[in-house]
Amino acid sequence: MTTATKNITWQQHRISKEQRQKLYTNKPCVIWLTGLSGSGKTTLANAIEVELYHRKLRTYILDGDNIRHGLNKDLGFSDEDRVENIRRIAEVSKLFVDAGLIVMTAFISPFIKERDFARSIVEKNEFVEVFVKCPLEVCEKRDTKGLYKKARAGEIKQFTGLDSPYEEPINPELTIDTNILSVDKSVDVVIDYLLEKGIIHD
Ligand code: ADX
Repeated sequence: MTTATKNITWQQHRISKEQRQKLYTNKPCVIWLTGLSGSGKTTLANAIEVELYHRKLRTYILDGDNIRHGLNKDLGFSDEDRVENIRRIAEVSKLFVDAGLIVMTAFISPFIKERDFARSIVEKNEFVEVFVKCPLEVCEKRDTKGLYKKARAGEIKQFTGLDSPYEEPINPELTIDTNILSVDKSVDVVIDYLLEKGIIHD
């Protein structure tokens, strides 16, 4: 217990996670997308959400660029800030899972330790780590936001893949190579996994 939580007691609410779940047809989970900037995390998260929406399932997307405008606008891109960024997102994801939703997170989340933390705070079958794999050269060539160009010009420091590290997942539930697979095919891979694990049903 930290000093901050010393005089705080966990409150048991009257409606449990299990009861909330009974209102939904899906099981809750976190689909944790990790990969370099420009690898396709946001595109994939959106395409998955469209498919799940058409199946009338409850979803939400947490996205690095958006969350950094609000909840995490006090954080930058030092290792320390990235750790805190992901810690908060892990906790928020857990709340969404508790609420009964399928939450997709689209953050670079460069460090194994923090991704493992996110995994550790939900139940075993509630975490689907998806490595959105794409070679740095391809991400840089895509340069959808023009950030690699700025980073190469020295206008952005600590850019992931250039002068800030990215630790690839060692044993993710899924690896999707966006340099090879189309968006539609990538969505199929994720949907098939969710069906196979009984998180969603046809
Ligand atoms: S994380 O490393 O802390 O997980 P996060 O996913 O929230 O990063 O934010 C990454 C997004 O911020 C990138 O897609 C990019 O648009 C933008 N960005 C701005 N500066 C940087 C930087 N130095 N490194 C990586 N991404 C950056």
